[in-house]
Amino acid sequence: MDTARVHKLNTIVAHLPPSGIRAFFDLVLGMEDVISLGVGEPDFVTPWHVREQAIFALEKGYTSYTSNKGLRELRAQIAAFVAGQYGVAYDVEHEILVTVGVSEAMDLAMRAILNPGDEVITHDPCYVSYAPTVTLAGGVPVLIDTWTAPGFKLTPALLRAAITPRTRAVLLNYPANPTGASYTRAELDALAAVIIEHDLLLLSDEIYDALSYEAAHVSMPSLPGMRDRTIYLNGFSKGHAMTGFRLGYACGPAALIAAMTKIHQYTMLCAPIVSQLAGIEALQHGMPDVFEMVVEYNQRRRFVVHALNQIGLDCHLPQGAFYVLPSTRRTGMDGLTFATKLLQEQRVAVVPGTAFGAAGTQHVRMAYAASLAHLNEAMARIARFIRDHT
Ligand SMILES: Cc1ncc(COP(=O)(O)O)c(C=O)c1O
Repeated sequence: MDTARVHKLNTIVAHLPPSGIRAFFDLVLGMEDVISLGVGEPDFVTPWHVREQAIFALEKGYTSYTSNKGLRELRAQIAAFVAGQYGVAYDVEHEILVTVGVSEAMDLAMRAILNPGDEVITHDPCYVSYAPTVTLAGGVPVLIDTWTAPGFKLTPALLRAAITPRTRAVLLNYPANPTGASYTRAELDALAAVIIEHDLLLLSDEIYDALSYEAAHVSMPSLPGMRDRTIYLNGFSKGHAMTGFRLGYACGPAALIAAMTKIHQYTMLCAPIVSQLAGIEALQHGMPDVFEMVVEYNQRRRFVVHALNQIGLDCHLPQGAFYVLPSTRRTGMDGLTFATKLLQEQRVAVVPGTAFGAAGTQHVRMAYAASLAHLNEAMARIARFIRDHT
């Protein structure tokens, strides 16, 4: 067999780098007594009444496909949530698509809007899948370095400087992974003004909206002039602690949602029916659970930021999500060395900043989606590690 010929890959896929998080976590496998602050996943189990609805769904024999768009009742709940929370009205039939997580919604959006060579601007650091998702859809990711910007935030000036005649869309995530950065209404207004001035589309990944600690989350499509130029992305993974259900959604202008639905119906068909039924329960009765978790995360956030700064790792106070992104500069180690040695010597897993952008050489990301007891032990180990190296 001519393996070079038979196993030949798509050129874009062949050149795609593997996820920096996965590469690092291969090291963790097989190690014992590791405290992981690595994975961006709630440590809470999905609330019981939501799991119970999933079990009931199976018991009642809900094992079929659903409408490609998702169960109408779920879309109605999503519409009610976005209208109630942010005052934005979406048509249940034409402007909402239920997806397999925000991940699928993001992929669909990119594939629906991009022509080869179209540019998508996003902030760097950003969630690991952003640039690959743009690249896989034939687009070109344009990464704005916000590693040294105050609070890691994108500014109107930085955004304006990145716009070219090839710019097709801006991809914004807030509260952000991996920085926890979020934006005030005034800051969002200023970003929106640039987007409107240049007549661009916005993809707004607001998956961490519920995990906002300093101020109420303001949603981009709620700003004047933004609803019809925004694809709003949200889901159940983070706020509702439902990562394994793989459930998300996109809301936006009918023409864009129709194009995304076309791809979705040929590739995914629909999100799993059991997950959709659980999602209805989560939106109908789950908000108190979300608030309870937010109180816990907030307590952990304050504890971790305080502890890290005391230990000697400079760390800003994130405004949302469940990540901190401290600098390792004062330790004399770059982020990768720090993360590797910390894992080997003290059995604490954190992610090197470079997983979230090439300029992140002097940072590590820690997820504080772990119990206070675990966080306490992790901080003690990190303090020991730093003492050993100074
Ligand atoms: C910013 C951001 N967007 C999207 C996702 C993916 O979410 P989902 O589980 O809904 O696919 C994540 C997961 O970590 C994330 O951090």
